Amino acid sequence: MISGKMEQALNEQVKYELYSSYLYMSMAMYFHGLSLKGFANWMEVQAKEEQAHAEKFMHYINDAGGRVVLQAIDQPPADFKSPQQVFEETLKHERFVTGRINGLIALAREENDNAAYAMLQWFITEQVEEEATADEFVNQLKIIGDNGHGLLMLDREMISRVFVPPTAAAN
Ligand SMILES: [Fe+2]
Ligand SMILES: [Fe+2]
Repeated sequence: MISGKMEQALNEQVKYELYSSYLYMSMAMYFHGLSLKGFANWMEVQAKEEQAHAEKFMHYINDAGGRVVLQAIDQPPADFKSPQQVFEETLKHERFVTGRINGLIALAREENDNAAYAMLQWFITEQVEEEATADEFVNQLKIIGDNGHGLLMLDREMISRVFVPPTAAAN
């Protein structure tokens, strides 16, 4: 049975995962505005992934005997300076989320909550990937600089990303 404190902390995390989804959707719309369809697609897939993360937390709260209470989601930024700045913001945001996951793990340890601890391991691995990917795009966009050809090449590459829901095995 989940503690009140853990239930509240996980409910808060649901909000942050949904905010992540909201943020990436906003970034997708920025890319659509620039006619960078590949970047927009990549961010739309990213937004779906974040929604799947929120669902993972919600299902866990339910399974552990807690109650999901959805909270208000902040408005994400609507304007961005450049594709590079978008991925710098993404990296910053993912680092923030990693910090939150680490905080949840610290709480799970404190409360001797092995079930929550086990569930959170998946997110630790996921966050390493998320940060690495964002960092990679920042670096690639730095190389591209003002080169329109380079930007369009990367855009073509990003159109092929498809949403793969987290598998049952990864649950
Ligand atoms: Fe997430
Ligand atoms: Fe993420």
